[in-house]
Amino acid sequence: MQEGIKSQNEHVLYEEELVTKKSNTMLEKKTITLIAAAAENDALGKDNDLIWHISEDLKRFKRLTTGHAIIMGRKTFESMPKALPNRTNIVLTKNAAYKAEGAVVASSIEEALALAEDDTQPFVIGGAQIYSLFMNHCDRIELTRVHHEFDADVFFPKIDNSKWNISSEEFVSKTENQPYDYTYITYDKK
Ligand SMILES: NC(=O)c1ccc[n+]([C@@H]2O[C@H](COP(=O)([O-])OP(=O)(O)OC[C@H]3O[C@@H](n4cnc5c(N)ncnc54)[C@H](OP(=O)(O)O)[C@@H]3O)[C@@H](O)[C@H]2O)c1
Repeated sequence: MQEGIKSQNEHVLYEEELVTKKSNTMLEKKTITLIAAAAENDALGKDNDLIWHISEDLKRFKRLTTGHAIIMGRKTFESMPKALPNRTNIVLTKNAAYKAEGAVVASSIEEALALAEDDTQPFVIGGAQIYSLFMNHCDRIELTRVHHEFDADVFFPKIDNSKWNISSEEFVSKTENQPYDYTYITYDKK
């Protein structure tokens, strides 16, 4: 009798666990977010470096990406002084022998996403080649559009308006210390 009640209770607990697991999976839909700052002419960078410095935008980048996986190209990784702290740095390269201190290395989109498997919101942080690679594989774009044109050697890919909705926009005016107007634009895939 006791054994029967025990196994019934175990059955109920098991079912509850299944329901919890199912609802967690439903709640935690994966959102792959591409995050970038691009000028009016889509300029992203020059000589493997950033062109402008907008500290509020960099703070926002840090706030949004901290605690998440960040996927980047080998050139972007090498343009930074070191791996970004408190984030899983994933570096894409075709060089199987590549070693990146403080980061894990992937050789394809699939491998990069598998390394970010536990994160429900991995971020693709550039550069131009990697944005193009992920454009059709991401769900959201967090774009900082800097309202100025710059000389550049890498450019953000065109956003196809038939595939994306703008879900929020926030304009920020230039200041004494920061010479460019810019707009934070969030695009969600239709
Ligand atoms: N404004 C922004 O928001 C922003 C953000 C990030 C970066 N940037 C700028 O962007 C520039 C760097 O961009 P980039 O386009 O030259 O380089 P990148 O996208 O950072 O890296 C390119 C590298 O990624 C690897 N790669 C590309 N496609 C791959 C694939 N299908 N599979 C595996 N690996 C692949 C290759 O590495 P291997 O050659 O090792 O095989 C390639 O050389 C810099 O100027 C940087 O400052 C700007």
